[in-house]
Amino acid sequence: MAEDVIHITGGKPLHGEVTVQGAKNSALPLMAAAILCDGISVLENVPRLTDVCAACRILNRIGCTAQMQGHTVTADGSGVSSAEIPDSDMRKMRSSIMFLGPLLGRMGECTLTMPGGCELGPRPIDLHLDAMQRMGAKITETDGKIVCRAAKLKGTNLTLAYPSVGVTENVLMAAVLADGDTILTGAAREPEIADLASFLNACGAKIQGAGESIVRIQGVKKLYGTTYRVMPDRIAAMTLLCAGASAGGTICVREARTQDLESCLAALEQTGCRIGRCSERIYLDAGTNLKPIRCLRTLPYPAFPTDAQALLTAVLCRAKGTSLLEETIFESRFKHVGELLRMGAEIRVSGRTAVICGGNPLHGTEVEAMDLRGGAALAVAALQAEGTTVIRGLQHLDRGYEDFAETFHSLGAAAKRLSFS
Ligand code: EPZ
Repeated sequence: MAEDVIHITGGKPLHGEVTVQGAKNSALPLMAAAILCDGISVLENVPRLTDVCAACRILNRIGCTAQMQGHTVTADGSGVSSAEIPDSDMRKMRSSIMFLGPLLGRMGECTLTMPGGCELGPRPIDLHLDAMQRMGAKITETDGKIVCRAAKLKGTNLTLAYPSVGVTENVLMAAVLADGDTILTGAAREPEIADLASFLNACGAKIQGAGESIVRIQGVKKLYGTTYRVMPDRIAAMTLLCAGASAGGTICVREARTQDLESCLAALEQTGCRIGRCSERIYLDAGTNLKPIRCLRTLPYPAFPTDAQALLTAVLCRAKGTSLLEETIFESRFKHVGELLRMGAEIRVSGRTAVICGGNPLHGTEVEAMDLRGGAALAVAALQAEGTTVIRGLQHLDRGYEDFAETFHSLGAAAKRLSFS
């Protein structure tokens, strides 16, 4: 069966302004949180992605009537009637685990299977289940189905062994309707968590400290739907900035929040790119020569994000000299390297470390996206390559980027998506 591909012919510097899409990693938990609300939640600035469609499908299956029009998702939590997420939906994306906390909180029950999503190495859900258990849920597993039950969740003191983004979000969503107060220590601090808490608070929840390590959640009896605008996507913004750094040129990313991107901007500055920070606008001037980065490690927010590691790797292929990137969050997040090697890159991966010997020109060839950010990194690399790169495996890009090729094209890149139907 024919599949869509993206063609990118490198060597054209980027110029112009582009508005960044709404954040996938905020929109998905917000959609799950709509289950907790009586009445209609209206989410604006939702990116049009296959993961968002998958979340809509799950909402509809459990009776939370959801639809997307343009960039607005409307979900009516009044009719939630089922607490089971079918295996076929669970497999479609990792974020299906985000329905655990809200379904337990609203229905006292949730039946699910292991979630799918990008293959970044083992992605267990033990910390999610453990947190729900500590809030009073009983968990049983038969024939691959995980059944979680709690007539009423109980607020408690929870300490996370690791600041997992998803677990922090699930605890917030489980605790808002629980009996009593929850104090979560060791919470993840990613900006998407503060966005989730702002939405829940606007619906009537009482959450304090989201975005910090200690979060206090006072259980309330009911939440009500509201209208809320999803925050801008910081990783999509970093993708555009890396595109500018890789291709050369001067670009402006509108509606990007500089405060969410400091570690990313600092990394780009280390490569010699000049960054201008203006309220909700980021300017990048790539200059002529990029410099290598001696050593950078991915870590939980506010440090450099794992989601930007592959993108920066592609940029560093243009920086003359040796750079070193260490991936500490996910075990298998170097799958893009094999494809970059096919484009002429000189990169050695040893365990969790990639050593990039940059400065040799890349050349266009046929490559395959192996996961979402790794796929975006191939496109970023293609912008600096001689000749045309053909990128396959677009189902990964479609999970996280809206109109990927068109956005690059609007900045002057020779990028187009070819659809075969
Ligand atoms: C979120 O995934 C993001 N996804 C990921 O973005 C991002 O890479 C990741 O956070 C880290 O920033 C969404 O927000 C939808 P974690 P999540 O739980 O919540 C281990 C992208 O490209 N862990 O913080 O799944 C886990 O294996 C995606 O947009 C357990 O061991 O990440 C990993 O090593 C990909 N047990 C580490 O924690 C658990 O029960 C961090 O994972 C849960 C997690």
